Amino acid sequence: MNYQDDIPLAKRIKSIKTITTKTFLRIALLSLGLGVTLTLLANQSFLRQTKYSNNSNISSEKSQNKSLLGHLPYPEAPNNELVLFSPGIYVHKDIYENFKEMQFRAAQKGIALKLLSGYRSIDLQRQIFYENKSIRNQTAVERSRDSAPPGYSEHSTGYAIDVGDGDYPNTHFEVEFEQTPAFKWMKRFASKYHFVLSFPPNNKQGVTYEPWHWRFEGTVNALRKFEAANKITKFK
Ligand code: DAL
Ligand code: ZN
Repeated sequence: MNYQDDIPLAKRIKSIKTITTKTFLRIALLSLGLGVTLTLLANQSFLRQTKYSNNSNISSEKSQNKSLLGHLPYPEAPNNELVLFSPGIYVHKDIYENFKEMQFRAAQKGIALKLLSGYRSIDLQRQIFYENKSIRNQTAVERSRDSAPPGYSEHSTGYAIDVGDGDYPNTHFEVEFEQTPAFKWMKRFASKYHFVLSFPPNNKQGVTYEPWHWRFEGTVNALRKFEAANKITKFK
């Protein structure tokens, strides 16, 4: 005989019901507790992971800040971020419209801004740095005053350009460019289009004055690339 047979049926049903409700509540509370605990644990591990990856970003940024002969390390722009500006000259796609607009505004004043160079692969920079250096019989230190070692040129980012005055081609890549209407106009108005002179006279990086070399800082992405350079300018 079952021990429950002593209990009247109505009570038995009631007690079964009570047990079931209580058990149900207990299970529900336990599950809720378990759910909350698991969520908290998952969040903590996510936060730890985020913190870790942020730290690894910071440490990789820190290691990227190591300069070489006054030049800072720059990554190569991915191909899908480059656009063809004119035959043989690629620039970062963020520059394109800004440069076109700047060129157009200058042209309205009779000034011919000419894009002389834009993106340079690290391989091309290697050729420029090592071949020019040996042609000119210069040591790496001497050459680095006006040319960046491969992996250390702003041109690799696609955000740096060399500009000339179309009416004064003999001043291309020469300090005399600063006397042209193109340079004078850019000095006044280039910042409107987010272009900044990278290496002004006596710059704190110790790179030779390059009036033709401008970099674009008109997007967060671009600004990030030049963060270390701007820190030197600001705080050194
Ligand atoms: N011409 C400058 C130094 C550069 O390539 O970054
Ligand atoms: Zn340049």
